Amino acid sequence: MAGIRIVAALLLLAGAAPAFAQDANAGKAVYERKCLLCHGEKGDGKGASAELLVPKPRDFTKGLYKIRSTANKTPSDQDLFRIITDGMPGTSMPSWAVLPDRDRHHVVAYLKTFAPEAFKEAPKKLELPKEVASSEASIKRGKEMFEAILADFAASVGAGPNKRIVLQLDNAGWHGPQNLEVPDGIRLVFQPPHSPELQPAEHLWPFVDEPLANRYFETIEDLDKVVGDRCVALTSQHEVIRASTLFHWWPGSMTKPAAVK
Ligand code: HEC
Repeated sequence: MAGIRIVAALLLLAGAAPAFAQDANAGKAVYERKCLLCHGEKGDGKGASAELLVPKPRDFTKGLYKIRSTANKTPSDQDLFRIITDGMPGTSMPSWAVLPDRDRHHVVAYLKTFAPEAFKEAPKKLELPKEVASSEASIKRGKEMFEAILADFAASVGAGPNKRIVLQLDNAGWHGPQNLEVPDGIRLVFQPPHSPELQPAEHLWPFVDEPLANRYFETIEDLDKVVGDRCVALTSQHEVIRASTLFHWWPGSMTKPAAVK
């Protein structure tokens, strides 16, 4: 009887321990087998294959991470565990779901040893603002904005009784509120789903989006700077732009457009 009670007490104690064990030493062994080639022996992102990779593997010695659910700079253990499990699609960071859970928890502990200072502060949960729900007021405001833009467009192209403009729009939600006030001389035509791109400039979005994907920006100015730098860089990449935008587009001429200088 006494034996059974002791076993029960031990089980209770085990239940009080953290949900999973984290052992940085065991994590080091996993790291050296699976992560070192990219993230480097010192965790500085300078592994042997790093040179070939864009984006570069994370430098763990800085303690700076992209993906976190915390209000402070460092991610929680769960955040790290999740990234290691899921990987970062679109980059060379693979999913490590093939590793046992235990190994992924250990490697989290080891990653933190590369920037012990950064991880001193306990993670604080980030409270996200509530999503702004669509409401009668927000739809009304959107409609007013769209009407103002249409009026401005009509004025700038001189639409009126003597000049008719057929304006083709995609089906983005904000284009279609009911009872829009459409200026004289303008006729809206909504294109069906899966129509070809309206204009070649649409093909520029992926280039502009590239440095923004998977990134978190602290302020709108930070975001603005990255978009600005990217646009400036793109202005000198004629070949890249030409390759994806220089195709015949109605109502342009049927002859091949002259090369962009
Ligand atoms: C083939 C190369 C490669 C290997 C191997 C690799 N990684 Fe990565 N890892 C990357 C790249 C590249 C990034 C950066 C992606 C980015 O900046 O969007 C990254 C980013 C990360 C991040 C940063 C997440 C964030 O929020 O910033 C963590 C954590 C990480 N890797 C952990 C690991 C662990 C642990 C292993 C081994 C089990 C590993 N990686 C193996 C290439 C690799």
